[in-house]
Amino acid sequence: MKNNRLIITSYRLPFAFETSSGSTTVKNSAGGLVTAMKSLDFSESAEKPVWVGCADFSRRTWEKYKHLVNDDFEYIPVFLERKIQQDFYNGFSNSVLWPLFHYFTTYVDYQERDFIAYQKANEAVSETVAQLLKPQDIVWVHDYHFMGLPRLIREKQPEATIGFFLHIPFPSYELIRTLPQKCKEYLLTGLLGSDLIGFHTTDYNIHFLQSVQLNLGVQHKIWKINYQNRLIQSDAFPVGINYSLYHDAYDQPDVVQEREALRNAYKGNKIIFSVDRLDYTKGVMQRLDALEAFFRQYPEWTERLTFILVVVPSRDEILKYGERKVMIEQAVGRINGKYGTLIWRPIVYRYGSVSFPQLVALYTACDVALITPIRDGMNLVAKEFVATRKDHRGVLILSEMTGAANELSTALHINPMDENEVAEKMRQALEMEPEEQARRIAIMQRRIKEYDVKKWATSFVESLLNMHTIQQIEPTP
Ligand code: G6P
Repeated sequence: MKNNRLIITSYRLPFAFETSSGSTTVKNSAGGLVTAMKSLDFSESAEKPVWVGCADFSRRTWEKYKHLVNDDFEYIPVFLERKIQQDFYNGFSNSVLWPLFHYFTTYVDYQERDFIAYQKANEAVSETVAQLLKPQDIVWVHDYHFMGLPRLIREKQPEATIGFFLHIPFPSYELIRTLPQKCKEYLLTGLLGSDLIGFHTTDYNIHFLQSVQLNLGVQHKIWKINYQNRLIQSDAFPVGINYSLYHDAYDQPDVVQEREALRNAYKGNKIIFSVDRLDYTKGVMQRLDALEAFFRQYPEWTERLTFILVVVPSRDEILKYGERKVMIEQAVGRINGKYGTLIWRPIVYRYGSVSFPQLVALYTACDVALITPIRDGMNLVAKEFVATRKDHRGVLILSEMTGAANELSTALHINPMDENEVAEKMRQALEMEPEEQARRIAIMQRRIKEYDVKKWATSFVESLLNMHTIQQIEPTP
């Protein structure tokens, strides 16, 4: 892969323009995807990797400030009409695909115009990519916003090397079945334009293969699909994190300082911590129910335990997200009012983002990380928490409905619906001996250190290149 050029497409570009008091600056994203893409070795390629994504800024802003953006990649923003962008992102992507693929069927709000906008957005991005494409390039398409893209690119450039990775669950066929036929076909044939399709887990892959078989009548054998004279591979590639970044942060001076401040502030109390984007899939309400069950069943923990709940704003133009914020705030107020005392609050709630040093300080100051999604494709918070615990302390309580539960085998697994089970595991975690904590953390650290983000990205691209080569040598009859 060293001499290939990489073309990445994702909905978001990995930077944002921020304007305050009349001056504009650029904030680079430190997310997992950027780290993964940067970790790939394209050192012998004459050209820089390219990143194509949707612009959430105007053409004018881009022309004026693009010189401020980092030069790690060549960035190509695609400018969609405002209405198309909204219907594509808030509509079909986040009010149909997101809830459906996370099994929230009653949250699906299908509107024909949103599906049309989704197709238009995919078409616009495919045109941009096709214009750039050269024979040695590798195209890597990311996530549910662009499920139509692989086929659209292939129609324009039949010989292209195209990989697709889905960062959310791929649900059971029964869920895909509920979509209008034209949507199902668009999404599934869209993905089949790829040479390689990646999912976080084998279950998601099996669900995808079943959907292809039952919907399109296309057969598969040992993770290979024979479709329109092409052989396509689909497989599991569980995404990892930048392990050393989180592990080494434990000793960073600003992290040490923040951690000490937290420990002082909650002296004498145990800390349970959670952080999520504001999303109904994350099970925050169920977590609060479990906390209430815990204080009901174990009143001896009154004034001895603090739950720090950080919720990061997300997709706030969508009604279901705004509603969730109100529900969480009401539940926090109710629990604090009911179980708190004049000198103590059971829940400390923050709605906003936290800096990297604050996040690592929270991960490493807490006694228990409580992660309870109803569904989650992977859940990187769980992996980050484990990686930061250089002190081999802390207990992870993790929903069995996350992709990460497969790999994090020595976490205390829970079903997020079962508040009594979660309450009981909280007690178990709070009372766990340090040796047992260390044993469990060490096993999980070994796994996520080895399967880190670099391994994920490299093994995906290597499999993609292999698949493309097989295609060239043995075209399917
Ligand atoms: C999930 C998706 C990503 C998305 C992220 C944040 O992890 O898989 O594609 O970028 O959520 O959501 P947002 O809508 O803010 O991009």
